[in-house]
Amino acid sequence: MDLKAHYANSKQRAVEEVKEITGGGLDHLINNAAVVSHISEFKTFKDFDDDFETLEKDLLESLEINILAVIKTVQAFIPLIRQGKQKKVLSISTGMADLELINATEVDFAAPYAISKGALNVTVAKYNALYKKEGILFLAVSPGYVATERNQVEPAKEDADKVAVLVQKFVGYAPHFERPLAPAESVSAVLSVLEKSSIANGDGGAFISHLGNKQWL
Ligand SMILES: NC(=O)c1ccc[n+]([C@@H]2O[C@H](COP(=O)([O-])OP(=O)(O)OC[C@H]3O[C@@H](n4cnc5c(N)ncnc54)[C@H](OP(=O)(O)O)[C@@H]3O)[C@@H](O)[C@H]2O)c1
Repeated sequence: MDLKAHYANSKQRAVEEVKEITGGGLDHLINNAAVVSHISEFKTFKDFDDDFETLEKDLLESLEINILAVIKTVQAFIPLIRQGKQKKVLSISTGMADLELINATEVDFAAPYAISKGALNVTVAKYNALYKKEGILFLAVSPGYVATERNQVEPAKEDADKVAVLVQKFVGYAPHFERPLAPAESVSAVLSVLEKSSIANGDGGAFISHLGNKQWL
């Protein structure tokens, strides 16, 4: 099966189904899907010094899923957002793409993921530059560190030490940090940020956390 054609059709089907349910408009679009590559999740640039091809493939796949798919989704749903009342498009980002956090914590692994989410933040700002005048709010919001299925899976033995290092770095960066959020806690915090944010408040194109500011943990 041609996978690209399959996904193009499924996106169009999703648009048609939403139209049928809502009568044509859409108030909120939330781009949540993303990939944290298993290849580079716990690897640094240095680990690919002798294997640029693997790094290239991994980075391109991260960009394909974490940005290009978001752009395709926005393209598909923007006509419905225009017809909606709230006109809000939220893309889930990560504090791991915040320059201040990277420089403060020196977390050096998972570069393709962080790069793709950093580019997502710029994409959101560019959409704001384009659509703010139409009253459409674009936001990039980090959900915090969340105990989703991905983070519940016991890490492979060789990665367990790296997870411990990451948590130590988080505690050093944010001493109040005790535990990941439960998914329901994160979702309600992100939805509250979505509800409170507006173009009138100057939030268009912002990259903020589940707390509505630059506190990522
Ligand atoms: N968990 C955290 O601590 C954390 C922190 C910061 C940011 N985030 C962000 O929060 C969002 C959700 O993360 P999560 O922890 O829930 O991750 P997750 O458990 O890995 O879930 C990722 C979701 O994205 C979907 N997805 C991945 N690749 C896809 C593709 N090519 N096409 C369609 N769907 C695809 C997956 O669908 P399938 O299940 O069908 O594969 C899954 O529903 C992501 O944007 C992530 O970057 C999470």
